[in-house]
Amino acid sequence: MTALSLLLLAVSAASALAESTVYFREQFEDGGAWKSRWVESKHKSDYGKFVLTAGKFYGDAEKDKGPDICGPGTKKVHVIFNYKGKNHLINKDVRCKDDEYTHLYTLIVNPDNTYEVKIDNKKVESGNLEDDWDFLPPKKIKDPEAKKPEDWDDREKIPDPDDKKPEDWDKPENIPDPDAKKPDDWDDEMDGEWEPPMVTNPDYKGEWKPREISNPAYKGKWIHPEIDNPEYTADSEIYKYDSIGVIGLDLWQVKSGTIFDNFLITNDPNVAEEVGNDTWGKTKVCTFTRFQTSC
Ligand SMILES: *[C@@H]1O[C@H](CO)[C@@H](O)[C@H](O)[C@H]1NC(C)=O
Repeated sequence: MTALSLLLLAVSAASALAESTVYFREQFEDGGAWKSRWVESKHKSDYGKFVLTAGKFYGDAEKDKGPDICGPGTKKVHVIFNYKGKNHLINKDVRCKDDEYTHLYTLIVNPDNTYEVKIDNKKVESGNLEDDWDFLPPKKIKDPEAKKPEDWDDREKIPDPDDKKPEDWDKPENIPDPDAKKPDDWDDEMDGEWEPPMVTNPDYKGEWKPREISNPAYKGKWIHPEIDNPEYTADSEIYKYDSIGVIGLDLWQVKSGTIFDNFLITNDPNVAEEVGNDTWGKTKVCTFTRFQTSC
């Protein structure tokens, strides 16, 4: 189980003038009061319970080893945005940590439509929202009107038309064994006409093929021309959400016992890093000693 996970979301402000604002912060440090701030879904009846716990790190020290990771081959951090009512998963591979220690996850979204994913306060991925998610259809598409011309020669090599099969090329594949001798006791009348057994002909050269030369008519590989996609409309506000002051946890666990702590939504990536340092940064040391130390 991941012992203690932290989720931080920093939505950076448009200018340096904007003040740091914390929209949401939860550290579960006031006893049972968190219950008044968190709502458990009643959508289905078989949900597991959320409980407040300092964390034993394992339900069963032997059985529950390792983090709860969906599919050993995947180990992916799923960064998903809802864009115009549809969920879009990042199309880059962000590897998650698969040890048993506490980790800090941060997502930074900037008003210039760039983003950054940090794990343990270190950048693991960054780029452009439009490039790394399929929010918008592609800018360019293959021109449906364009077709490879019939006479387009895309053969790089051709058989040399001047190469001729040597006169003495054709030899039978099998020949009567020149060393075979008609047995002395062969009786033509009784046994029929004697024929030597066939053997592979050492002079047989196989099927003749002309050598290959560069095709003088070669035009190169045909590249399908692209046109602007009529379906594409640029959106300079992919990053923008009208309301982001709420965090919901939608968990499907293979092994129970994952612990989450210290949620933060702010417009200041620096504040996010600082809070990360103050929370995860301080307690991560304790997870190394697991049960022995209480921090
Ligand atoms: C967080 O901690 C790291 C490592 O000690 C340090 O380099 C960094 O400056 C800290 N960040 C902030 C915002 O205090």
